[in-house]
Amino acid sequence: MKSKRRLFLKNACAPVLFSIMGIPLIEACSKNEDSSDNSLDFASPPSSSGPIEIDIGSSKFNAIRSIGGWMNYTEENLLLIRITENDFRAFDNACPHQGVRNKWSYEENTFTCSQHGNSFSNECGGGLKCYETTFKDNILTVTR
Ligand code: FES
Repeated sequence: MKSKRRLFLKNACAPVLFSIMGIPLIEACSKNEDSSDNSLDFASPPSSSGPIEIDIGSSKFNAIRSIGGWMNYTEENLLLIRITENDFRAFDNACPHQGVRNKWSYEENTFTCSQHGNSFSNECGGGLKCYETTFKDNILTVTR
C-alpha cells in the first residue's frame, strides 16, 4: 500500500496533487511541455520492416518517373529520388535535426526541412538516413 501511494505521488503532476489537497489550479497535466505544435509528425519506426517493392508504373509514383523527380512516400516514411534512368535513392523521411517528418522541399539536389530550415544533400552520407535500392523491371526495391 505504501509503495502504491509513493508511485502515485511520483507520477501525478503537481496540479493534480494541489487539487487533491484542496488548492484549485486551472492547468492541464502534460508531459509534452516542449511541444507547441501538435500537428507535427515526429519520427516513429517505419510502418514495415524489410524490403519494400515499389511499382514505378503505378500512377501513385508519377513524380519519380522522370529523372530528377522526387516524392515523399509517407506511407513508408521514405523520401525517393530518381537520379538516372536506373538509379534511385531512398532516405528515411525523418529530419536528422529533431525527427520531424513531412516538412520537406527539394531543390538543386538538396532536401530542406521547413521546420527549422536545415538542408541535407541527396547523397548517401549527406545527413539523411540512406537505404539500399535496386531497380529492375520497373520495380524499385528499397531495403532497410
Ligand atoms: S526538425 Fe527539421 S530542421 Fe529541425
